[in-house]
Amino acid sequence: MSRERTPLMAGNWKMNLNHLEGVAHVQRMAFALKGEDYDACEVVVLTPFTDLRSIQVLVEADKLRIGYGSQDISRHAQGAYTGEVSGAMLAKLGCSYAVVGHSERRQYHGETNVVINAKAKAALANGITPIICYGEALEIREAGDQVLFSLGQVAECLEGFTPEEASSVVLAYEPIWAIGTGLTASPTDAQEVCGATRGWLAEHFGSDVADQIRILYGGSMKASNVASLMAQPDIDGGLVGGASLDPDEFVAMARYRLAAG
Ligand code: 13P
Repeated sequence: MSRERTPLMAGNWKMNLNHLEGVAHVQRMAFALKGEDYDACEVVVLTPFTDLRSIQVLVEADKLRIGYGSQDISRHAQGAYTGEVSGAMLAKLGCSYAVVGHSERRQYHGETNVVINAKAKAALANGITPIICYGEALEIREAGDQVLFSLGQVAECLEGFTPEEASSVVLAYEPIWAIGTGLTASPTDAQEVCGATRGWLAEHFGSDVADQIRILYGGSMKASNVASLMAQPDIDGGLVGGASLDPDEFVAMARYRLAAG
């Protein structure tokens, strides 16, 4: 139950906010966030590829403490892969993070755990932290198989990783039935899977590595429920979709510690 892990609040904008809107959004966040907020919680936006250059310029020029990254990354290093964006290109834009294996990419783009594994490795090879998403669909939860299923996904996504590589990833438990539905997993349900995940990580990579890895929760997380989720011992942050599109709400989420009293 280590809180040495720095909490991470990451906004996944999905396919929303063009580069002009994105810049205004980050400026508004930066205006509201204070030094003590960044000290208490890492704040990151995960934007469309087309926003990244503008956000890099803003963050660097104004020395903002907001991190940024992409929502996907190519598993290939370079070459004839039309439409793909490589880890090297993202690193050149100063990206610290790349989401891999989001359920929307699994569902609409047929991404498998094998592909996600390769994308996570491509991120690491370029000094980018992959945020690896996993989580069950409603039928699996209704059958009571959420832990087994989720750990199976984690195992395949991290297949062949050394303990050192594993220690550099972020995991995001996002039960599919909770994404964009307004149905948030209860803190107990979210903790069940996140706690089991840390147990699995300890078995496979050792307890030191397991203690270092941050596990986020995602799925209808918002200002009104963030504190109770963050109070769970194995939830180290949030991967926030809809609520991250409102800069004031997202800032309030990054300040969950104040609501927690
Ligand atoms: P919502 O917060 O909109 O449910 O989305 C969660 C998500 O998919 C973040 O990656």
